[in-house]
Amino acid sequence: MNAGTSRNAEVTPTTRWEADWWRSGVVYQIYPRSFADGNSDGVGDIAGITSRLPYLHKLGVDAVWLNPWYLSPLADGGYDVADYRQIDPRFGSLQDAEDLIKKAADMGIRVIVDIVPNHVSDQHPWFKAALASEPGSEERSRFWFHDGRDGDPTHMPTNWLSSFRGNTWTRTTNADGSPGQWYLHLFTPEQPDLNWNHPEVRTEHEEILKFWFDRGAAGVRVDSAVLIIKDPSLPDDPTLLDNPPPDASQPFVDLDEIHEVYQSWRTIADSYDPPRIIVGEVWLPDTNRFAAYLGSNEMHTAFNFDFMTRAWDPSELHSSITATLAAHAPVNAPATWVLSNHDVTRPVTRYGRTDTSFAFEKKRFGTPTDLVLGTRRARAAFLLCAALPGSLYIYQGDELGLPENEELPREVIEDPMYFRSEGVDPGRDGCRVPLPWEDDPKSNYGFSSEASSEQPWMPQPAWWGEYAVSRQEEDPQSMLWFYREALRLRREIEDFHGNDFEWCEDLPESCLGFRRGKVMCIVNFGQHEVPLLDLPILFSSEPVADSIGSDIAVWFTHRSTGEAGPKNKGV
Ligand code: GLC
Repeated sequence: MNAGTSRNAEVTPTTRWEADWWRSGVVYQIYPRSFADGNSDGVGDIAGITSRLPYLHKLGVDAVWLNPWYLSPLADGGYDVADYRQIDPRFGSLQDAEDLIKKAADMGIRVIVDIVPNHVSDQHPWFKAALASEPGSEERSRFWFHDGRDGDPTHMPTNWLSSFRGNTWTRTTNADGSPGQWYLHLFTPEQPDLNWNHPEVRTEHEEILKFWFDRGAAGVRVDSAVLIIKDPSLPDDPTLLDNPPPDASQPFVDLDEIHEVYQSWRTIADSYDPPRIIVGEVWLPDTNRFAAYLGSNEMHTAFNFDFMTRAWDPSELHSSITATLAAHAPVNAPATWVLSNHDVTRPVTRYGRTDTSFAFEKKRFGTPTDLVLGTRRARAAFLLCAALPGSLYIYQGDELGLPENEELPREVIEDPMYFRSEGVDPGRDGCRVPLPWEDDPKSNYGFSSEASSEQPWMPQPAWWGEYAVSRQEEDPQSMLWFYREALRLRREIEDFHGNDFEWCEDLPESCLGFRRGKVMCIVNFGQHEVPLLDLPILFSSEPVADSIGSDIAVWFTHRSTGEAGPKNKGV
């Protein structure tokens, strides 16, 4: 039964694991502002996405996840939502969104929308009303307004620090111009945090979920999912003390009360036919705390950031994969395999560096990068991910092997992470540059539908055309062909769909290898060639003759399950 209205658009499953498609589905992430520009104004939009559905269909994805497309001043790329029920006019209209969901469903592609429950835009009517109201008013109680600490109006209420660097409190100005209360924002001042102890905040989000589920959205991606509940006594953050106690935890991260919120969301998601899914942005180092968000009564899946941030190193990745699978098994949730997203450095760039791990704190302008090496490793990394049990996420442009654009003139940078770090952190715009579809600068490399008079909202580098879809279509060795072929095999080979997984223990230290039923994946991270197994090769990230070269992944067909281990010629 549909929990909402009768406008429940069909989500047509085409894959063979239909109802449980999310357990091993492939989800393509679209950053709407930079995917395709249907009206040639230099900003990506829904018309552009709709026009490129055949491309996504050919790539072989089961779903798309769209970064926020709602009405927004774009102070944080749309993660500052002014109205969840309206599409920002730069992206199109609600009708365009409904048409996209319908057309995508007709092609077997589900649409997952982004929900940002931790905060709203400072232009949201609730926040505007709160600013216009008195301290202690109902309007202010939906947020975290507070007087200064210990009776000192100039003193911030807590010492909490923002993950965008800097403070988490901004002082308001009263109508008469005098300084007023403070309000909390874990991100930028344009993103005031909601108070999830307020019942209206909860019911409003339940209505927002139904609004999008009723329009056929196949699920939601939950932004900053572990931050929404705060300790209402607003204690200082003990982790910032000089000698923090060993069990110190932040009073705004992963509080136990969070789970009842997502459990109520699951009830709503399950009341739809087909059931909708919930994917969490759960950045937590403790795998047990992470897994507590998953299972049959809470979220379906969550992003595997542990894997995404690890260095290109067999023991690092071995331990991350082992821990991931061990954490997911007891809650019967599928793992997710993610190489990047709109917040992090593109894989071909990251893997081409001396330090191949990812951390926001480490991002710096001018880090030396070997793109040839990075591209080779990114291909191998994709084959590794595509062979692992669980669902797979692809960030737009990674299938083209796009590097991070690190040549952006500083005056075009928009990301608040750059400004809040006073220009130390390059920010995230380098992975958000509008995609190249054609090798033609006149149409913004095919990003805009016509030879456009408008420049793209974020400039494209002069070498962008080399990565254009049109160029890659003509080259069977291209990243695009490689992604398509890997996804085709993953879809067609049954062994990839279940949970079967077994490490191959008898490989050289430089290698990682595992079996999935009759399929085996081996990656060589070392400098030296490793002799090939005497098994039929299904696919490889680079051509292989009689050995597996450095930074290459190979898929083999194992003779049959149950037979003695594979004949191994040399390792
Ligand atoms: C999430 C988003 C990121 C955004 C932040 C604040 O981490 O992925 O892009 O800036 O939340 O909403």
